Amino acid sequence: MTRIPALAAGLLLLTACGAPGGGGGSVTVRSVEAVNALPIPELLEGTPRDGRSVFDLTAQAGSTDFGQTGGPADTIGINGSYLGPTLRMVDGQQVRVRLTNQLDEMTTLHWHGMHVPARMDGGPHSMVMPGQTWTPQWRIDQPAATLWYHSHPHGQTAQQVYRGLAGMIILDDPDAPDVGLPEQYGVDDVPLVVQDKTFLADGKLLVDPQAGPSTGFLGDTITTNGAMGTYFDVTTEAVRLRILNGSNARFYNFGFNDGRTFDLVGTDGGLLAAPVAADRVQLGPGERAEVVVRMSAGESVSLNSTPPELGTGDDGLFSGGTFEVLQLRAAQTLTPSPPLATELAQIQDDDPARAITTRTFRIQGRAINGRPMAMDRIDMAVPVDQTEIWEITNADPQPHNFHAHNVGFRVLSVGDQPPAPVQSGYKDTVYVAPRETVRILLKFTDYTDPNWPYMFHCHLLLHEDIGVMGQFVVVKPGQQAGTPPASNHLAHQDEHAPATHD
Ligand code: C2O
Ligand code: CU
Repeated sequence: MTRIPALAAGLLLLTACGAPGGGGGSVTVRSVEAVNALPIPELLEGTPRDGRSVFDLTAQAGSTDFGQTGGPADTIGINGSYLGPTLRMVDGQQVRVRLTNQLDEMTTLHWHGMHVPARMDGGPHSMVMPGQTWTPQWRIDQPAATLWYHSHPHGQTAQQVYRGLAGMIILDDPDAPDVGLPEQYGVDDVPLVVQDKTFLADGKLLVDPQAGPSTGFLGDTITTNGAMGTYFDVTTEAVRLRILNGSNARFYNFGFNDGRTFDLVGTDGGLLAAPVAADRVQLGPGERAEVVVRMSAGESVSLNSTPPELGTGDDGLFSGGTFEVLQLRAAQTLTPSPPLATELAQIQDDDPARAITTRTFRIQGRAINGRPMAMDRIDMAVPVDQTEIWEITNADPQPHNFHAHNVGFRVLSVGDQPPAPVQSGYKDTVYVAPRETVRILLKFTDYTDPNWPYMFHCHLLLHEDIGVMGQFVVVKPGQQAGTPPASNHLAHQDEHAPATHD
């Protein structure tokens, strides 16, 4: 018999029989009446201080009423009991975050999708101990997009994100032309952090990131911005939904219950070149989509999810069936919305012929290229300004969702197919089906540092935690990878980095 590495065998077993406590593979999402107004996270625009926009964030514990029966759940959040404010940042702006950790556990905060120096990136090396404040700063330097932030401590990401350490970031570009997109936050420009939870009889959260099928925890209750059974009162003819899949493992295939088409206008890294008319958009954990849907006065329609197409041969295992995510209720009179422009953004077409290196990433079991994540090992040094092709292969029978920090990439091919229209823009997280290879094109344009790594990993949070992650540094041409910061590097960071603790 071929030797199967222990975890791979474990995963196969889990796939076959289900894990104890997690209800096995398929977890059907229960239907919940839409009785709760969609919570809109507070919008933080930062306080001007010393030429920077300063965002004061506090990680804290609390208890949260999601609308569940039995009582509130113990949760953690940023500036509140669950999730965090939406941070609005602007291209060209100097930003500083002051993150104070009032939890009784270590955490980190990562800016998912942000082009940012590695020391500011909030990955697993940027640990913030209880009582400490971490103060990263950087300049916003990328197109308008929907990003997000979440905690990223090695081995603890799944449970911390599940318990609430996440939030949305809206990047704006004041110089971009007006293309008719709705942009009134909370009115016609609506953030949706979509997650699945399981509540116990006493209302507490079941926290068991190891439970579920091989991909990790699946909950039976959908929450949006921290509430279950949500509705949103629409007052405008068009609504822009910024959808973030902030779930541990669940894939969604978003659309509307009456099958109407909508305009897909943006994905992970920003606006598409032109709106794409679609009736479904599939998002794996970590991915975002911006859609614009048009409404008629007085009508009700629901954003829902149908079973995703994962190419596993048994997608039902990872699907929750068809379920409602958010009900949209249109007022009797709607404020007119402008039409969308036919061109939304300029997307430079990097020429794959310019790629001088192809790197391969083979995901199997709890490892990439045979190596599980090690904090003290840098896996690759990528020269700055070098166009590269990364070939990501999923050698497993189960889904993976590949993410790279610090970069927006373009998808070149999925298997032997060109990317679908929904993958035609900038992405930072991409689905890699079982036994398939996805090729992406990317280039790191600055922020060289041989010692402080960025991460690449599967964004199924269980996989990330158990080792399906690696580290890369961006270096000057000819430079070698150095030594990653020691696990307890806080003093080290004070000495060498502009990020400070105070
Ligand atoms: Cu969304 Cu390495 O993270
Ligand atoms: Cu994975």
